[in-house]
Amino acid sequence: MPALASSSRTNSAVEQGGHPQHVQLLFDDPICCGMTIKNLNIYAKKKTILSVSEVRLPRTGVVAVMGPSGSGKSTLLKAIAKLMDDNLSHEGSVDINVINGSNKTQSARSHFAMVWQKPTVFPCSIWDNLKIPLRKRKLDRKQWCALMERALEKTGLLGELGEQWWKQRAQRLSGGQQQRLSIAMGLLKDANIFLFDEPTSALDPMSTEKVEQVMCDLGETKLVLLVTHSLGQARRVSDYSAMIHNDGEYGVLGEFSRTDDLFTRPASAKSREFIMRETGWRQAKN
Ligand SMILES: Nc1ncnc2c1ncn2[C@@H]1O[C@H](COP(=O)(O)OP(=O)(O)O)[C@@H](O)[C@H]1O
Ligand SMILES: [Mg+2]
Repeated sequence: MPALASSSRTNSAVEQGGHPQHVQLLFDDPICCGMTIKNLNIYAKKKTILSVSEVRLPRTGVVAVMGPSGSGKSTLLKAIAKLMDDNLSHEGSVDINVINGSNKTQSARSHFAMVWQKPTVFPCSIWDNLKIPLRKRKLDRKQWCALMERALEKTGLLGELGEQWWKQRAQRLSGGQQQRLSIAMGLLKDANIFLFDEPTSALDPMSTEKVEQVMCDLGETKLVLLVTHSLGQARRVSDYSAMIHNDGEYGVLGEFSRTDDLFTRPASAKSREFIMRETGWRQAKN
């Protein structure tokens, strides 16, 4: 986990646009900072969907993104990966250090691996699916196979699929297995930033545990953004947490801090209320 900037400051109770902010500006050392989002506003026509005044994310580690349905969590991931829907517009900036550095020639999207809520596998064999992220690498079949098997093992699929896994049709896998195949494809991509949008919502507890382990492992060397509705998952997996609040008609990034801090002493009343509502911890309200 990267060291925190010693001079990190907290904008708690700073009023911005009439909204209280509790976003800790960590990672002011460029060596630790993987991404800076500044004055990001996303619009559908003229209607604001999401507003982020400023947040800096670490170069490595898992960042959980939480908030009510419709608050803009998926929109934030799409904006970061430059995959925003055509009818949306935005102002502000998302600066990604790993892209601004030595790898400028690669397209921005090639730095991301995305795993969405619904698995996205192609109607062909498991081998052909896994070949997609590896196709530009000059490897022989044996080397491809070794990399694929390692990725499948990390997602807990290898043991389940058995021998001759490469022949099996990806779309014949169960929903949970298809999701883990998507994650294996992300693992095979040489990406620096992994974006997960509710990746375990269709998985059983055992598969969920395996996926959580994969995300923890990835966080050792990559930046992982995890949108989750499971507060338990956020606590188990993430190092830092971002909370998006519904503020009237649109979502506002209202709090960002270490995950332990967010859950033990949420700085904003809205985060406190969200955590209490989700955990049924109502008696602590007062
Ligand atoms: N392409 C779009 N056009 C218009 N509105 C959109 C579009 N994408 C998302 N929205 C709206 O933006 C808000 C946030 O959506 P989303 O990011 O999917 O929320 P979450 O992932 O937190 O549930 C919702 O009100 C949604 O209807
Ligand atoms: Mg969503």
